[in-house]
Amino acid sequence: MRTAIYPGSFDPVTLGHLDIIRRASVMFDRLIVAVMHNQNKQPMFSVEERMEFLRCTTSQLPNVEIASFDGLLADYARQQGACAVVKGLRAVSDFEYEFQMALANRKLNPELDTVFLMTSAEYMYLSSSVVKDIAVHGGSVAGFVPDGIMQDIVRRTRKEG
Ligand code: COA
Repeated sequence: MRTAIYPGSFDPVTLGHLDIIRRASVMFDRLIVAVMHNQNKQPMFSVEERMEFLRCTTSQLPNVEIASFDGLLADYARQQGACAVVKGLRAVSDFEYEFQMALANRKLNPELDTVFLMTSAEYMYLSSSVVKDIAVHGGSVAGFVPDGIMQDIVRRTRKEG
């Protein structure tokens, strides 16, 4: 049983994330999509809301589990018996930070490798911040986030904003 973890803030999940989830779910027996804390970010949606968006988005993928963890990714991977972390790479600008993270995580947990999947070209420009910015300013997020959660994101974003 090969378990991988796809960690992120997922604030909220986008079609770019879903693309990575779909592709990674074929590569591993079990994929845990973990909502984790990025100390540099102040999320707009609660952990529960972010998990709910992810559950709704991945309900058709039987080997995908949604979880959250408040500590170090390297510790969580050990706890779950995961052999890999999955991350999406969108552009060269992502590389330096991701490289640093991958090395730090492997230092903390030598069993853990990071697998990078190149983001599909149509999602190169996408980020959760772009989605929130569009929604807060009244734009349409169609084509940016999965259809099933679009209305909910817009409703909750406007309530916040
Ligand atoms: N398609 C679309 N958007 C994507 C994407 C893709 N394939 N891949 C990444 N993004 C976006 C994300 O939505 C995010 O957007 P935002 O900045 O607007 O929120 C941005 O790219 C950056 O993504 P990422 O680098 O994965 O950051 P993150 O905040 O989502 O996740 C954690 C970072 C949570 C994984 C990291 O902070 C972590 O591991 N935290 C736990 C503590 C820990 O172990 N720290 C490391 C110590 S070495």
